[in-house]
Amino acid sequence: MPRPIEALIHTAALAHNLARARPAAPDAKVWAVVKANAYGHGIERVFEGLRGADGFALLDLAEAERIRTCGWRGPVLLLEGAFEPRDLELCSRLNLWHVVHCSEQIDWLAAHKTHQPHRVFLKMNSGMNRLGFLPAAYRSAWARLNALPQIDEISLMTHFSDADSDSGRGIAHQMVAFEAATRDLPGERSLANSAAVLRHRLRSDWVRAGVMSYGSAPDFPARDIAHWGLQPTMTLRSRLIATQSLQPGDAVGYGSSFTADAPLRIGIAACGYADGYPRHCATGTPVLVDGVRTRTLGRVSMDMIAVDLTPTPAAGPGSEVTLWGRGPRGSLLPIDEVARAAGTIGYELMCALAPRVPVHIDGG
Ligand SMILES: Cc1ncc(COP(=O)(O)O)c(C=O)c1O
Repeated sequence: MPRPIEALIHTAALAHNLARARPAAPDAKVWAVVKANAYGHGIERVFEGLRGADGFALLDLAEAERIRTCGWRGPVLLLEGAFEPRDLELCSRLNLWHVVHCSEQIDWLAAHKTHQPHRVFLKMNSGMNRLGFLPAAYRSAWARLNALPQIDEISLMTHFSDADSDSGRGIAHQMVAFEAATRDLPGERSLANSAAVLRHRLRSDWVRAGVMSYGSAPDFPARDIAHWGLQPTMTLRSRLIATQSLQPGDAVGYGSSFTADAPLRIGIAACGYADGYPRHCATGTPVLVDGVRTRTLGRVSMDMIAVDLTPTPAAGPGSEVTLWGRGPRGSLLPIDEVARAAGTIGYELMCALAPRVPVHIDGG
């Protein structure tokens, strides 16, 4: 019998979440962002659920090929553009749209031989200081691109650093910089990631829906997936493989970081950090046993984790343990809650699902 752990990818939830971007950005076309192997879900596994998008955005050329192999003939955008000149050959061959964020990429385009002019998204560094041309250099980059026969259409793009919180710098300063530098430039605009789509409702011809499509609230814990009407798209579930009855003073796991102060029945679930469950989750991290919410105890081991069975006295070996996602009888444990207990964000947990975990598609 295989080890009783698996992940499920919920196709209907992917479609549902993506559709939430439509009312939030009513006139916009929606990129389904599927970089990092669809945020750990698997490009081929999410394709059916996300095929209602207007295009797929990603950054790895091999992943772009995989989306084409799925049968997608519509727009595909490389969010970081070409990494070297010969990548442009693949862009021509697979009709990939690509970001242009630096002058070297314009040089490569100028030297590129193609019969099919490219659609590009010219990226502005409006304040995040990661990729893109500074506002002062943006118009001359645009003019250079516009003069190239290799270019068909230029869209205008930027990315926000603080769209997800009320406490940061916000997006106003970046909006001002972007609008001032692009005021009379033609072309479609692409501004918003999930947080900007849900929280700022800006005008943007193309929005880039990433983590919201995967059932994570971009501004958790201020707001959760219930607030945004999102559903979990990945469930990580396992089973209890043992139980133990602790006496006061008994400790659990490596480092004895949890000690019982009263008699306590615990379960041992077949899931550990080698499955992608974060080792940083301390005692008290939420977990479901048979759909009932309880807590983890002690340190996460490579292959096992201990859980408190106080709320589920009938649980025993074989009982279902939901590490995140959907549990039995309509129960739910958002990935954001587990991520928070590990001091991180939902993105990181879903991306880190380990290769040894078998993944199945829940087509319902
Ligand atoms: C340029 C760009 N656009 C969109 C996204 C999607 O962001 P999110 O997953 O927060 O929606 C990302 C992700 O980091 C990105 O780098």
